[in-house]
Amino acid sequence: MKNFINLSDIRKDDLRKIIESAKLEKKQSSKKKKLIGKTLIMIFEKSSTRTRLSFELAIKQLGGEFLALNPKESHYGSGDESIYDTAKVLSQYGDIVMMRAHKHKHFLEFSKHLEIPIINGLTDLSHPCQIMSDVLTFEELKGPITNKKIAWLGDGNNIVYSLIEAAVQFNFQLAIACPKKLEPNKEIINWAKNKKANIIVTKNPKEAAKGADAIMTDKWISMGDHSNKKYKKKLLKDYQVNEKIMKLAKSDAIFMHCLPANRGEEVTNEVMDSKKSVVWLEALNRVHVQKSIIQWCLK
Ligand code: CP
Ligand code: NVA
Repeated sequence: MKNFINLSDIRKDDLRKIIESAKLEKKQSSKKKKLIGKTLIMIFEKSSTRTRLSFELAIKQLGGEFLALNPKESHYGSGDESIYDTAKVLSQYGDIVMMRAHKHKHFLEFSKHLEIPIINGLTDLSHPCQIMSDVLTFEELKGPITNKKIAWLGDGNNIVYSLIEAAVQFNFQLAIACPKKLEPNKEIINWAKNKKANIIVTKNPKEAAKGADAIMTDKWISMGDHSNKKYKKKLLKDYQVNEKIMKLAKSDAIFMHCLPANRGEEVTNEVMDSKKSVVWLEALNRVHVQKSIIQWCLK
């Protein structure tokens, strides 16, 4: 059974195949209904606009159907039914699950009891589907991502976790700028370093941005982040992506953000709405990557 949980679990050549098949999906606009009779079950423990809608569109375009389970309106996670029993039932109703979970640990626990594949639609640890869409977007605009320089400015969060994994799997240079206290997950940094990845972590946003092909950021306060917001925003104020920072990157560099964004915090309006910004294409490409990921899991 093929789950899509973290990019480091998946073979490099499989990830490359998923990207190439997403490029084809986009060209064909999915005229071929390859998943007729298949059902995707979606579970959202926290809010979503893009992940929910892009998975709904993806399965519909492939000829399949979806069911959405809202934990607040079901027995799932409420304590009156074990997750083992819920997983058994869902394994009969659907062919594949996509889940957005608060805790990665709980996601893994649930996945162990399922008898059908599961896709990680974001946890507190990682967001692999987003980064696959970002690789597709980058390559669509700039050609192969291998050896290109991607700069990350801001919080060491779940998006950057998957970005670090992608830097290893797709062989690109990654420069992460963040305050010492907000550095990304140490385990994944060490994993990447053991794989001889071309990654630097610095406190200096200018160093990271210099000569980059793309500058990426994300909200300073993620969903479910209960840290002191005022203090965290103060720590991050020098990591805002603004026109000054964009000028340090290559002249044709792009600006990327998974969205939702907090305009005026991690990014200025000028950058979000500039010609360099590719944020809408990133959101659109989610649909094509989801189609490719679902089919890879079901093959
Ligand atoms: N980028 C992303 O996953 O957006 P949503 O939270 O809207 O799904
Ligand atoms: N880091 C953000 C990403 C949202 C898509 C969060 O977890 O809320």
